[in-house]
Amino acid sequence: MRIRWSSDLETGVRAIDRQHEELIGMLNELDAAHAGGCPQSVLDDVLQRLGTYVIFHFGTEEALMAGLPHNEAHARQHRQEHAAFIDKLTGLRAQAVDNGRQTMETLIDYLNEWLYQHILKSDRELAALLNRKQAARPLP
Ligand SMILES: [Fe+2]
Repeated sequence: MRIRWSSDLETGVRAIDRQHEELIGMLNELDAAHAGGCPQSVLDDVLQRLGTYVIFHFGTEEALMAGLPHNEAHARQHRQEHAAFIDKLTGLRAQAVDNGRQTMETLIDYLNEWLYQHILKSDRELAALLNRKQAARPLP
C-alpha cells in the first residue's frame, strides 16, 4: 500500500499533523523516484533527508509526551516503537547499498505500512492524551 496524506490521518494536534504531512510527502517522493527508475544515489539522498526528518519528528512527539504527567506506559511503548523504527530503517538502508532494488521495495513497503499504522494507533493515542490535557486547563 502507498500512504497519501488525508484528513483521515489527522490527529488534531497541529504540529504533529504538519510534520506527518511533510513526512508522507517525502515517502511519496521516494516512491516516485523508485518507480521512475532513479539511480540509487537519488534514492539515498531522499532517504537521507527522510531519516533526518524522522529523527526531528520523533523528537517533537517525545518532547510533547514528556509534558504529559502520569502517562509513562504510553510514553514507554511509543518511544520503543520509534526506536525500533529507526533501527529497522538503518538496517534496510545499509542493505540497500548492496542489494538496491529489491531492498528498496521492502523498505518503501515497510515505511508506508509502519507510518500508516503508527499514526492511526500510537500517534492518535498521544494526540488524545494531549487534547485531554489541553481541555482540562482552566480558562484564563
Ligand atoms: Fe509517533
